[in-house]
Amino acid sequence: MSALATTTIQDSKVLHVCDLNAWYGESHVLHGVDFNVSRGEVVTLLGRNGAGKSTTLKAIVGLLRTRKGSVLIEGTETMNLPSRRVAGLGIGYVPEDRGIYATLTVQENLMLPPQVRPDGFSLEQIFNLFPNLKARLTSYGDRLSGGEQQMLAMARVLRTGAKFLLLDEPTEGLAPVIVEQIGNMLQQLKRQGYSMLLVEQNFEFAQSLADRHYIVDQGRVVDAFTAASADREQAKIRRYLGV
Ligand SMILES: Nc1ncnc2c1ncn2[C@@H]1O[C@H](COP(=O)(O)OP(=O)(O)OP(=O)(O)O)[C@@H](O)[C@H]1O
Ligand SMILES: [Mg+2]
Repeated sequence: MSALATTTIQDSKVLHVCDLNAWYGESHVLHGVDFNVSRGEVVTLLGRNGAGKSTTLKAIVGLLRTRKGSVLIEGTETMNLPSRRVAGLGIGYVPEDRGIYATLTVQENLMLPPQVRPDGFSLEQIFNLFPNLKARLTSYGDRLSGGEQQMLAMARVLRTGAKFLLLDEPTEGLAPVIVEQIGNMLQQLKRQGYSMLLVEQNFEFAQSLADRHYIVDQGRVVDAFTAASADREQAKIRRYLGV
């Protein structure tokens, strides 16, 4: 057996995070985060400002190097893998700031990242899902609306062939009509079998897509419940989110 085979566990989980700790310099921010995402599931991380939601995503994809614990993606331990190998496992991260290059056009932004897997979206598939982007192909990144930037950022990770998306507040600052469009696109991807880990402050939006929710507080997962039981958990959700 190869060394890799010994660290690969076959199960239905696309993500298994266990006792994840992370630091910014001296500042210990994640204190043993535990949760998982099954294949085809949409799971959210909810929590107040500063709870550690974005840090959890960054630590999963290896943008935060000072970390400890275990992150299994598709059954493969990724803590010591180079980031290119992690991308090759089919994970795609859309950061909170969307990471669009201001001085490149929509087309250039789309073509920049490599298609790390052969089954990445073609430009035609991207334009079917995001017709707005086709109309804006030659526009520069800094001329796009917030909604167009969000769609471009999502399109870019779909081009890589990622089937498991980490989305950090995709609806932040967007008008309700755009939020609805993004919700419809994510529903389509969910129907196609994509798995998602979604960080959201907009609980209504999260609830419309999610199968399960986790609550993050002070760098830990402190509670979990299914979307089906969310009605009964309203008081708890409000208390944790401070709304
Ligand atoms: N680059 C950084 N350097 C130092 N500390 C940071 C940095 N980014 C975040 N933090 C701190 O880490 C903690 C968790 O932040 P994080 O961004 O993960 O929270 P969040 O749950 O995503 O919040 P928000 O809802 O505001 O986006 C906070 O105390 C924050 O101040
Ligand atoms: Mg955040």
